[in-house]
Amino acid sequence: MEENNCPICDGIGWVLKKEGVKKCVCRYKEITENIFQRMNIPRRYRDKELSNFEPDESAGHPFVLMRIEDYINSDRYTEGKGLFIVGPPGVGKTHLAVSILKEFFRRRGIVGLFYDTRTLLFRLKSSFDGSASAREILEEVVEAPILVLDDLGSERLSDWARDILHYIIINRYNDLKPMVITSNIELKSKKIDGDILENTLEERMGQAIASRLSEVCEVIPVKGKDRRGSGVTKKAKG
Ligand SMILES: Nc1ncnc2c1ncn2[C@@H]1O[C@H](COP(=O)(O)OP(=O)(O)O)[C@@H](O)[C@H]1O
Ligand SMILES: [Mg+2]
Repeated sequence: MEENNCPICDGIGWVLKKEGVKKCVCRYKEITENIFQRMNIPRRYRDKELSNFEPDESAGHPFVLMRIEDYINSDRYTEGKGLFIVGPPGVGKTHLAVSILKEFFRRRGIVGLFYDTRTLLFRLKSSFDGSASAREILEEVVEAPILVLDDLGSERLSDWARDILHYIIINRYNDLKPMVITSNIELKSKKIDGDILENTLEERMGQAIASRLSEVCEVIPVKGKDRRGSGVTKKAKG
């Protein structure tokens, strides 16, 4: 569906009206595209919306969507409250997190920031010789009015990675800045039939982080089929 030229302005972006030259309506699309780029929303997820998330009733998705709507419509974000969306791969966690960012922009004009956690760490690491760019990225991540940290704790973390994530999370926590986190591991360790549940964020990132996150993030478990493997969508893991 390649559309090179707008039929109204012939791709110039401006139209000549009686009152003078005006921005063509097609430029609005471009503006939105730029905003999503600024929010660092991956291209694969640019068209993901709450409205095209197909709720699977047997997996409890209507309730998940209700809680997410409730969060977006409330003012809880102003007190630094966020969400911790947890579930296995392919159930739509990233789709939901991206949709939330987009709704914050649409409904409130808030330009949030998206980062896949591993990508963020990689970017910081590859420029971390005290260079300006690493500091800029870190500052942007700490300051963003709402931050999505996608796939937090999906692997064991080096001491360096832990320190960086501590820095980001503690500073945002202290400044009452909301975080929407997705993860495929539980936040807190708990006992199941006398055994301690292992591979939790608490275990990987320490109690200080886990307890702060559980204080400010509402935990939203997402269940369902792995939509990547099912042929419904053929997308890379991530
Ligand atoms: N309920 C759903 N309705 C529509 N698309 C979905 C749904 N669940 C997952 N998807 C799609 O399946 C793919 C994988 O979802 P994703 O959000 O990346 O999963 P996760 O982050 O949980 O691993 C994406 O393209 C996503 O848009
Ligand atoms: Mg994901």
